Amino acid sequence: MSIETEEIPEFPRGGEPDRDGIAEEDHKIPLWFNLSFAGTIVFALIYTPYYLFSGWSQTGQWEAEVAAAEERRAAVVASLPDTNPYRGDAAAIAAGEQVYLTTCVACHKPDGSGLVGPSLVDPYWKYGDADADLFETVSEGRPAGMPPWGSQLGNEKIWQVLAYIETLPKSEAPGVGAPDYQPTGG
Ligand code: HEC
Repeated sequence: MSIETEEIPEFPRGGEPDRDGIAEEDHKIPLWFNLSFAGTIVFALIYTPYYLFSGWSQTGQWEAEVAAAEERRAAVVASLPDTNPYRGDAAAIAAGEQVYLTTCVACHKPDGSGLVGPSLVDPYWKYGDADADLFETVSEGRPAGMPPWGSQLGNEKIWQVLAYIETLPKSEAPGVGAPDYQPTGG
């Protein structure tokens, strides 16, 4: 048995031969390609000096955007009340009661004495009882199981429910959640 060797035809222009039916051809580089190649060089000649000497930088742009966002945030924070606008307002307290009964009782009990969540009627406040602290607690939540309510309730209902909680009868003994709380049993 002999291996047949195919005759390799010459490439028409005398260049590379055709192998297994695949011929290497020799086209001219298209004009659009040459133009865009030249274009990248022109672009580099303009852009490189601009980049080096204009003082622009990615980090600078980022820092400017962060500073602008920080300014907007400060303006929003400054526009928020830091005392409860509904303190003592009977209609708002009634609205806050509805919020409390539907949203908070499961964990804090109807009288605020606490269950899963801590007592809201004892003198102990883990996160502070200034209006701004309470607002932040309810709006943003707290790590040991207090959910954030800001997006569900909105600022107004949060202030209303806080105004309602203030009207719950207080207890002097440390309640559920206070470090020196003594369960009485039952
Ligand atoms: C799923 C249960 C749950 C619900 C519902 C819930 N809380 Fe809480 N709450 C907690 C827990 C648990 C904590 C303690 C979080 C911690 O110690 O980090 C807490 C803490 C708090 C505190 C801070 C107490 C302190 O000593 O600083 C306030 C105020 C509070 N809740 C108010 C509310 C209000 C108002 C609502 C209804 C809008 C509500 N909670 C709904 C579980 C809940």
